[in-house]
Amino acid sequence: MAEGKLRVLSVTSEAVPLIKSGGLADVAGALPLALAPFGVEMRVMLPAYPGLAAKIGPSKVVWAAPDLFGGPARLLAGQAGGVDFLLLDAPHLYGRTGGPYLGPDGKDYPDNPERFAALSWAAMAVCRDGLTDGWTPGVMHGHDWQAALTPLYLRRQGVACPSVLTIHNIAFQGLAPYEKLAALRLDPADFTSGDLEYWGQISTLKAGIIHADQVTTVSPTYAVELQREEFGMGLHGVINARPGGVRGILNGIDEAVWNPETDPEVRNYSLRTLAPRKGNRKALLKEFGLKETGGPLAIVVSRLTRQKGLDLLPEVLPAFVAGGGMVAVLGSGDRDLEEALAGLATAHPGRIGLRIGYNETLSHLMFAGGDAVVIPSRFEPCGLTQLYGLRYGAVPVVTATGGLADTVIAANPAALAAGVATGIVMHRTDPLALHMAFSQLLALYAQPETFTQIRKAGMRADFGWSRSAAAYADLYHGMRA
Ligand code: ADP
Ligand code: GLC
Repeated sequence: MAEGKLRVLSVTSEAVPLIKSGGLADVAGALPLALAPFGVEMRVMLPAYPGLAAKIGPSKVVWAAPDLFGGPARLLAGQAGGVDFLLLDAPHLYGRTGGPYLGPDGKDYPDNPERFAALSWAAMAVCRDGLTDGWTPGVMHGHDWQAALTPLYLRRQGVACPSVLTIHNIAFQGLAPYEKLAALRLDPADFTSGDLEYWGQISTLKAGIIHADQVTTVSPTYAVELQREEFGMGLHGVINARPGGVRGILNGIDEAVWNPETDPEVRNYSLRTLAPRKGNRKALLKEFGLKETGGPLAIVVSRLTRQKGLDLLPEVLPAFVAGGGMVAVLGSGDRDLEEALAGLATAHPGRIGLRIGYNETLSHLMFAGGDAVVIPSRFEPCGLTQLYGLRYGAVPVVTATGGLADTVIAANPAALAAGVATGIVMHRTDPLALHMAFSQLLALYAQPETFTQIRKAGMRADFGWSRSAAAYADLYHGMRA
């Protein structure tokens, strides 16, 4: 380890390449490598869900506790994809069949508050005691509600380690009944409206927003939106009460994984040689059983939840396909949305294709073969799929919210004339706005030169990590005790 490096403990519930349910995993997995050139040595701590320990190579036990929220626990240090991981091995909490948060019945594990309070407590203990291999964090960086008790634990245990909390999505607030205070090792004295209490319950996210030394979120626009009632989801008052506010640092994409010139899952192409892209489009049509119309091929790669605005598709897509459009949807999530989309695919064979499930490999082909990626989110803290779309030449169709507003330049006449437009932007998530966006997509696609110009402007844009990693590094270095 080089002298003078700042050691940062990143605490998260998911990270690639080990486990992923959404963008948080991409960000948590990409940050350590992006930060290395800026004098930061980051280790990523997350629960040892079943099967994860085998993915970090030969591991070493670097911390142990006889009783972590009801059973013994230890931290396993190892590497995957060049990232240093610390897996919190505590079978009584994480040795479950099911996902990281949901059991096989699709419901939250009832002890999720304890499971992630334990992660936060162990993170505090690492900051307090260091690891047996001599590594002690200089800064703790927690992600979302699952790590959000760490700053409070640090304060109450008198640990001087400075803390950062990043809000990836304020919709998830880590709520727990107040009866769990003792089980979560929380002091009833902290259960006040100025602290942990949120409408009669415990909110771990609220505790984090109050106690972290720095709070960040994943785009500048979301940082501003969070101050408002429409987006703050009840926590805007707490956000506004923070003297320094919340800082927005845009996510980047991992360019080693998301690069059309080298992506092993697709026919490779670049800004200069777009031709092989046609082969990807053809393969994608085949994959989804779609018949070529000569119109635009729109893709969706998403969690299927209300946040993403995809409940509007059944109302809007019939007109799009009638106009020559084709659609390929890959996603999973809310049952009613899955069913509505299945109905749509059945009603429009050869025009709308659907794959329910999570499929990383297929997602690469979709960005490399699709003409547009549709993201009509009601709110979007950052969003990564518009960035993949830009990089791969699948023109984003987005709502101007959060990170979508910060990364896509609307194809309005001025931007088109200046050659800087990169996507189609709507200002609300409603059927009319989405209908107009699809109409614009049909119209622009019918002008091949203009459409290629938009595609290329997107491919030229830089959404790698370096700028944002520099911003995080600055933040950490500024907090160094
Ligand atoms: P969120 O974290 O809110 O789901 P993001 O856009 O930040 O949204 O990140 C979503 C990530 O998950 C992206 O990397 C996206 O490609 C991926 N993803 C979402 N759904 C699927 C799916 N069904 N199959 C493969 N990848 C998916
Ligand atoms: C959350 C947000 C998404 C963001 C991701 C990574 O899941 O919904 O917008 O890109 O976190 O920060």
